[in-house]
Amino acid sequence: MKKIAPSILSADFNRLGEEILAVEDAGADLIHVDVMDGHFVPNITIGPPVVASIKKTARVPLDVHLMIDDPDRYIQSFADAGSDIITVHAEATAHLHRTVHLIREAGAKAGVSINPATPLVDIEQVIGDIDLLLVMTVNPGFGGQKFIESMLPKIRTARDMIDRISPDILLEVDGGITLHNIGAVKEAGVDIFVAGSSIFLSEDYGQTIKDMRTILGD
Ligand code: DX5
Ligand code: ZN
Repeated sequence: MKKIAPSILSADFNRLGEEILAVEDAGADLIHVDVMDGHFVPNITIGPPVVASIKKTARVPLDVHLMIDDPDRYIQSFADAGSDIITVHAEATAHLHRTVHLIREAGAKAGVSINPATPLVDIEQVIGDIDLLLVMTVNPGFGGQKFIESMLPKIRTARDMIDRISPDILLEVDGGITLHNIGAVKEAGVDIFVAGSSIFLSEDYGQTIKDMRTILGD
């Protein structure tokens, strides 16, 4: 079944617990948590204490997306805070193979993400060691950016690579996913759809998630 992961980046942080419960009631499968350090990306968001706080409210798994340089330093803290999936950027670590094993040793599922400009060949050698591949469809750092259309062939190639090497890996996309493009993205072979502004800035989260699910066909 296809999964929808609302990104809390566009939620009202003053009412974060209520916002999480609202999207869960609307059918969210995961809560996507964007961690930014002001170095790897030009924005700063939250750290492990906020993840630990979210964990007290959330009933669905936490999908924690680390947009931080040298993530090895913080993996244990994010795992201890209750992250179910920890995704690091291939561009942010010198030894990606070591990093993904640190995530698993810390007790979380290991995800790897690549920016739009990064080719899939950069992660091919670790694909047997991960649980999730996140293909960015915007340059990370901000919510509400436009989906980069030229990522569609890359997503299809990622699907083929996963099916060929390690079919159990989940393929996730993040950035600019809306009701208008989620159908085309699904056709490219995606398992998990991250959506921030198109859910949290909509009038009715329940209706938006329901409409997305109708397009996804399950
Ligand atoms: C971008 C983040 C995304 C972001 C998506 O750097 O990783 O998760 O919140 O937001 P939308 O869906 O608005 O593009
Ligand atoms: Zn994200």
